[in-house]
Amino acid sequence: MDNPILDIRNLSKTYKGGTTALAGVDLQIRKGEIFALLGPNGAGKTTLIGAVCGLLRPTSGTIEAFGKDAARYWRDVRRRIGLVPQELAFDMFAQVDHSVQYSQGLFGSPRNDAHIEEVLRSLSLWDKRSAKIRELSGGMKRRVMIAKALSHDPELLFLDEPTAGVDVELRRDMWKQIGALRDRGTTVILTTHYIEEAQEMADRVGVINKGRLLLVDEKAAIMAKLGSTEARISLSQALDVIPQALASYPLSLENDGRTLVYRGGDGTGKGKREVAELVSSLVTQGIAFEGIETRESSLEDIFVDLVERGEVPA
Ligand SMILES: Nc1ncnc2c1ncn2[C@@H]1O[C@H](COP(=O)(O)OP(=O)(O)O)[C@@H](O)[C@H]1O
Ligand SMILES: [Mg+2]
Repeated sequence: MDNPILDIRNLSKTYKGGTTALAGVDLQIRKGEIFALLGPNGAGKTTLIGAVCGLLRPTSGTIEAFGKDAARYWRDVRRRIGLVPQELAFDMFAQVDHSVQYSQGLFGSPRNDAHIEEVLRSLSLWDKRSAKIRELSGGMKRRVMIAKALSHDPELLFLDEPTAGVDVELRRDMWKQIGALRDRGTTVILTTHYIEEAQEMADRVGVINKGRLLLVDEKAAIMAKLGSTEARISLSQALDVIPQALASYPLSLENDGRTLVYRGGDGTGKGKREVAELVSSLVTQGIAFEGIETRESSLEDIFVDLVERGEVPA
């Protein structure tokens, strides 16, 4: 990748207690993309973000952000990064706008009230700007966290499990917000264990487990490579063998020949098309059937499968 906004090489982190949270991670992030880091609890997602944001010291490896060594130019790099941490963390007694102003100046950015107003408005927080944070609902508190992270107009935004434990409405709202950031050219890296979120939002997806990146690819390519369709067709009369005319499809007979099973496709719609063709050839062949059940594998199936096998697919 040419001029990645973030270039992580062979990054490892072993904590004092001996836990290895990251084991040789290589990852390049393209400017302007939305990247979803998908992995179960304990996979190393928060550790990876902490290393990039200078919150912890890697055991080995290098991180370059905006073409600069992140360890050496920590302050420069940090000023261009926004971080929405996993845990709510702020002074509950502070007023919303003061808290956001504070964040804006934290890494040396100049004060810019117009930008703060824009951010607060975009997050529907403008009317609450004088409220004390502790008076807000959980969802509104989370918006304040995002406002703080956007206060200095970062080029690269980390969202660590932005929607864990938030209601569906707020989740949709956040997705919209993230889409709007992308439209402005902000690069977004989000971590999640909601596959739906990755499927909805991301341009590329990385699957991490036990400190190792198992897979990094365009979302569409992951779906195409690993997605599949299964259709189970209940036949009116059992078949002994698959008819010659259907030999080109990936079919098998189950249930003593009473169920014809199609397993194929590539997650791009090929499976659905083939099943439709198959059904019309069954009709042409005079093979009667009583029902069809189809299912598409989701990113979730793929993810579970990868993590269980713990290996990189070919
Ligand atoms: N400060 C810490 N000290 C020791 N171990 C830690 C610390 N933070 C995280 N870990 C361990 O490192 C591993 C990865 O944690 P984390 O990066 O928080 O994963 P995730 O964000 O994917 O849930 C886990 O086994 C966790 O218990
Ligand atoms: Mg985490």
